[in-house]
Amino acid sequence: MTTTPMPRFPAEFRWGVSTSAYQIEGAASADGRGASVWDTFAHSPGRIADGSTGDVACDHYHRYAEDVALLAGLGVSAYRFSIAWPRVQPTGSGPANPAGLDFYDRLVDALLGVGVDPVATLFHWDLPQALEDAGGWLARDTAARFAEYADLVAARLGDRVKLWITLNEPFIHMSLGHGMGVHAPGRMLLFDAFPVAHHQLLGHGLAVSALRARSASPVAIANNYSPVRLAGGTDADRTAGAAYDALHNRLFTDPLLGLGYPDAPGLDLNVVRDGDLAVIAAPIDVLGVNYYNPTGIRAAEADSPLPFEIVPLDGYPRTAFDWPVVPDGLRDLLVGLRDRYGDTLPPIQVTESGCAYDDTPDADGRVPDPERIAYLDGHLRAVREAIDAGVDVTGYFVWSLLDNWEWAEGFTKRFGLVHVDFATQARTPKSSYAWLRDLIRP
Ligand code: FCB
Repeated sequence: MTTTPMPRFPAEFRWGVSTSAYQIEGAASADGRGASVWDTFAHSPGRIADGSTGDVACDHYHRYAEDVALLAGLGVSAYRFSIAWPRVQPTGSGPANPAGLDFYDRLVDALLGVGVDPVATLFHWDLPQALEDAGGWLARDTAARFAEYADLVAARLGDRVKLWITLNEPFIHMSLGHGMGVHAPGRMLLFDAFPVAHHQLLGHGLAVSALRARSASPVAIANNYSPVRLAGGTDADRTAGAAYDALHNRLFTDPLLGLGYPDAPGLDLNVVRDGDLAVIAAPIDVLGVNYYNPTGIRAAEADSPLPFEIVPLDGYPRTAFDWPVVPDGLRDLLVGLRDRYGDTLPPIQVTESGCAYDDTPDADGRVPDPERIAYLDGHLRAVREAIDAGVDVTGYFVWSLLDNWEWAEGFTKRFGLVHVDFATQARTPKSSYAWLRDLIRP
């Protein structure tokens, strides 16, 4: 970690932390909540590394006041959380379940009460199981259902949420959830998962209109990006790199910005109907960028089902997830988005950035996490370099406030600024929490 002081950020820069509903809330059947695909998946034997579920998670549903106090103590200006669709519509359609919306009403008011902007994500992967049973995101109708759900949420919270995020990482939901089967709903369709991309994007576009009709607040999407690092210098390696880049970095951005779908091998665009691309290109106010690491790519073997091969990136420190720590990748990504999209690119907020380490309390009950401090230090310097290079980056959200239930990894990966003892639900701020608090203090 460099010892030169961190350069200052603009006074109006938005500092935040991010979480998602299924990873922290627990209370899986409280107040009429329906089942989501993640309840079903987590309860299926062999799907989750430690056999755990999100039934209780961080019990945030009951402990949100304590967690809002942690946000206030941290001094962030914004908190990105997600709304559980199956709390609002237990079966994914029909009238709102008022008790479900009441929870988010209380949370939003608690945040505003301590001067923290509520930033609400509408879909962080927890599709109501009843909609999955009707085809899920493979079915076009799910896009219309999503817009109805957005309308119900905005009718209740549209006067107080300060930034809407329609979808979280539609690429990851398509690829891990529907392509490779490692996330819910566990489908293994490879390239036949493309309708999941299109229907999520269509749902996004329809939801943008629904939100605008009810709320004056800005609207965004949070996309996952991973710059390609070529692991070889042949033409075949370059072709493979371009294919991966199109799938991961362009498929969910080009059409949003009015450019239509990129030329990506293996995609059957037959589900795209006349008029869809105009709906998808509804203007957004902010592009949310989630970044964890670049991806090493080389040409695939001849018998591979994929047109590229993903290879480990050597020579970097690694997190407990075995992800390489590459802060420069974030700068390159931000500058690359600006270079690729130019004036059509809206302002960017980094809506997720963070790392997992095996943080444990010491004998005094403190939780030192120097690797996370180094990680955040490096990535914030990278953001600052991108701003200096002229990229309009207006915010940075750390993933995550709390150690939580990390999808297929269960409770084995700790991403929090705050340590959680999952047996007692005791919260203990780690040393990174104090570091960030001191950094962002005006
Ligand atoms: C992102 C997800 C988030 C969390 C982090 C580690 O892909 O959006 O929920 O799991 O990874």
